[in-house]
Amino acid sequence: MRFIKAESLKKKPSDVSGFGKVFTDYMYVREYRDGRWNDGEIRRFDALELLPSASVLHYGQAAFEGLKAYRDDRGAVRLFRPEMNFERLKSSCERLCIPTVEVSDAIAALTELVRIERDWIPTAAGTSLYIRPLVFACDDSLGVHSAKNYKFIIMLSPSGAYYSHGFAPVALKVEREYVRAVAGGTGAFKVIGNYAASIKAGDSAIAEGYDQVLWLDGVHRKYVEEVGSMNIFFAFGDKVVTPELNGSILPGITRDSCIKLLRDDGFDVEERKISIDEVIGGARSGALTEIFGTGTAAVISPVDRLGDGDEDFTIGVHGKSGKIASRLFDELTGIQTGRYPDRFGWIKALR
Ligand code: COI
Repeated sequence: MRFIKAESLKKKPSDVSGFGKVFTDYMYVREYRDGRWNDGEIRRFDALELLPSASVLHYGQAAFEGLKAYRDDRGAVRLFRPEMNFERLKSSCERLCIPTVEVSDAIAALTELVRIERDWIPTAAGTSLYIRPLVFACDDSLGVHSAKNYKFIIMLSPSGAYYSHGFAPVALKVEREYVRAVAGGTGAFKVIGNYAASIKAGDSAIAEGYDQVLWLDGVHRKYVEEVGSMNIFFAFGDKVVTPELNGSILPGITRDSCIKLLRDDGFDVEERKISIDEVIGGARSGALTEIFGTGTAAVISPVDRLGDGDEDFTIGVHGKSGKIASRLFDELTGIQTGRYPDRFGWIKALR
């Protein structure tokens, strides 16, 4: 892998509290041409040359990932479950007929890039180095078919919390008009079109004073799916329910980690269909004690308000995280940053 040294480096910002707004000095770029991926190179984070006819701009043949690196208090760099992200990237690529990148190659490239950029990893509470791998088609052609040329890029963004209010609870609106995905579509994959299709509903929810929408299944409009930027969990006392992976929900790595943590801590976790009627019924009766979202960017996001049509339900105590969400946040970030032992072997440490 080639390393092209930049002539000058950026001044590192003192504040990285936003999400995905600051980028480090270097990125990794690998190209697919003539039926093979080249060795790739690490070079200055800069604009790419792309013709207006580049196929991704027209037909969206692109998949991405999101993962994070942390620095512990002894200075060691810690990646959280990177193999899972690159396995998921492979499956997203397969779904879109994009040539896959081997997990070991992707991890080798990421490791090298993060080593070079380790001084960019923020250490303030709630911050990390957000890693965004992206693969996209760049044929110079308008035909609708799989492309012959691709780029695989890894960029790094020192970031704080995804939601501007940090770990404070968010408000969700039940989305009754639009749907995110159906089984057989691309909902279970991290492909760019899923996000484009979600923006209209998300923007109207924000205009109405919510943070995000809670998507229902695309067929019956009855079962809860996910939030788009996170998977969703409901607590009825000590019983926790999360929608089962059904082919249209993204198999979140934080979702999987939270299920494992909760079960190991003795909670009863059910992965099953959960109808919006059960959720609203629980919100009305008080049986539903917590809602929280899980995601790489969102980490654990408590939800204290759920809107449905003209009705708004307070979940738990307004403005406060519930007990289970707080505990998970502490345990998960503790393992990620090295405050707690890595009891599941999730950390890949770079020395
Ligand atoms: C992530 O959690 O990494 C995501 O990709 C969600 C969102 C920022 C698109």
